[in-house]
Parts: sequence; C-alpha cells; structure tokens
Amino acid sequence: MSERLIIDTDTAGDDVTSLLIALLHPNAQLDAITICNGNVDFDQQVENALYTVEQAGKSVPVYPGCPKPLVADWVDAAYVHGEDGMGDSFFPKAQQRPEPEHAVDELVRRINESPGELNLLAQAPLTNIAAAVTLDPSIAQKVKRLWIMGGGVGNVTPAAEFNFYVDPEAAKIVFKAGFPITLFTWTLTLSHGVFFDDDLARIEAVDTPLARFYRQVTRKAEEFERKMGVPGTTHPDSMVAASIVAPALVRATREVFVDVETQGQLTRGFSSIDELGILGKEPNCTLVTDFDTQGFLELFLDILR
Ligand code: RIB
Ligand code: CA
Repeated sequence: MSERLIIDTDTAGDDVTSLLIALLHPNAQLDAITICNGNVDFDQQVENALYTVEQAGKSVPVYPGCPKPLVADWVDAAYVHGEDGMGDSFFPKAQQRPEPEHAVDELVRRINESPGELNLLAQAPLTNIAAAVTLDPSIAQKVKRLWIMGGGVGNVTPAAEFNFYVDPEAAKIVFKAGFPITLFTWTLTLSHGVFFDDDLARIEAVDTPLARFYRQVTRKAEEFERKMGVPGTTHPDSMVAASIVAPALVRATREVFVDVETQGQLTRGFSSIDELGILGKEPNCTLVTDFDTQGFLELFLDILR
C-alpha cells in the first residue's frame, strides 16, 4: 500500500535526495511539491525542484509558496549548498514549469480533499505549514501525519537548527496547532544520518546518472560539513522520506512536548524538547531517537540503481 506524500521543501542539497526517494521508491506516491523560503534564492529552489522531478523522469506538480518567513528577515544557506543549492552545478531549467496556484492554498485544498490520507513532509522552514494551518485550522486533524525535519542541536547558532532558526514564529505555530507530528532533529542527523567514506564509495560504484547527480548536488554541502568536522555527507531530509516509505527504519521514539523559542537573543529558534517530561505538559510530538542508518543506505542504493 503506497504512502501518499506532499513534500514542502527549500530545495537544495539533501532536499533533492529526499525528493528522489519520494519520486522513485515503490512504496511512495508523491502527490505534490510545495516550495518554502530557506536554503537559497526562492526562484532557484523552484527550479531545483522542477529539475529534480525531471531527473527522476516523473511529472509532479510544483507549487511556489511563501518566499520569506512570517516575521523574520530571510536567512540563506548558500554558504553550505552553493549559490544554486545544487553544488554550484547551474543546471539548465527543466521543461516543466511551476503551477499557478499558491502552495498554501494547495496544501489546504489537497488535505481537505483527502482527509487522513496524506503524509506531509516538512523539510524546510515551517512558513507554508504555519500559513496553511492558520488559513484552515482543521487541516491539523486531517493530515495522516506531519513529518518535520528540524530542531535539536544547533547548526546555525549553538542553539538553533536552520529550519527553526529561519522562521521560529512559524515553528511555534505548527507545534501548537494539534498536528500528529513525528520529529527528526539535527541531533539525530549527526548520530544516525551520515554516510561515511565507505558508504559513499558504494554509491560511487553504482555509477548511474542518478548516483552522479546525487554526488554533484551534495558536493558543496559535503565540502562545508567536512570542514565543520562531519566525516561524510548528512541526510537530514532524506532520512525522513525514507522512514515514511520504510517505517521499520525508525527503531525508537519518545512522546515529548516541544515548543520553539522566538524571543531569545542567544536562543531564537531553539527547540525546547522536553524528553524527561519536566514540564508535565501533554506531549505534542513523537521524537525519533534511534534509526537504522545501514537500512537507509541500502534503500538509497536501490533508488540510485
Ligand atoms: O538543518 C538542516 C536543514 O536545513 C535541512 O532541511 C537542510 O535542507 C538545511 O536547509
Ligand atoms: Ca531542507
């Protein structure tokens, strides 16, 4: 039975890997892609999504969403992913063009049309998701599950991970809205979402156009992260997509209460994840605490072959 997905993405680096899994895995049905402000220039992110769909040989509608955060000024991550978000490859434009409807309207329409059926993968700042649930609060109870990549140990400041740092107001809204949330943090990325040199050698050995595309798109992020001390390539977004289509990859979870700091000078964008239940608040999130990295690698190798 296929898992139906909508992916909300700031298409750059590992976002692309996540889209490839959703586009090509036999247990995935990717209904739509929505674009959120984040990694690199907004229009470039739209092109990156369209190009990725084309590389997968598929046709999935791409809807531009909110080009900037709700309140904050936009912050980019071109220094990580390259100016184009694709390892400075500057690919040509895909044939397919973006849809005219706004992503936020499309999220509301599609979720209302298929209550209980859609997995929403939020692998970008949460601006579009916050706007959609503000437009129609009932969608929180109508998604099958909201899968979020964000929070945990900081990677933009010591306190804040990029997706929550770019739009902390949106993240706060989403965690209060009543969605059934599963959260994958940057902490989990670092502990369970890295492919090391021998893993990357196996990917190189596949030597297909998609394997080469993956290595090219992620090359600037790999360069940056190795400088930061990560001994390989990180997969914050794609480990979530893999878990949706292969649930056995998630080995352990914990029900926790999560809130997001919007006021702190040092802590703006901080994800307060109450793993010990100190606050005594009703959990609003399923936190993933263990993940099968080798199983994820094998799944991805099959996608690339
Ligand atoms: O912090 C990791 C997140 O920010 C991922 O979604 C990645 O795309 C980066 O933009
Ligand atoms: Ca992302």
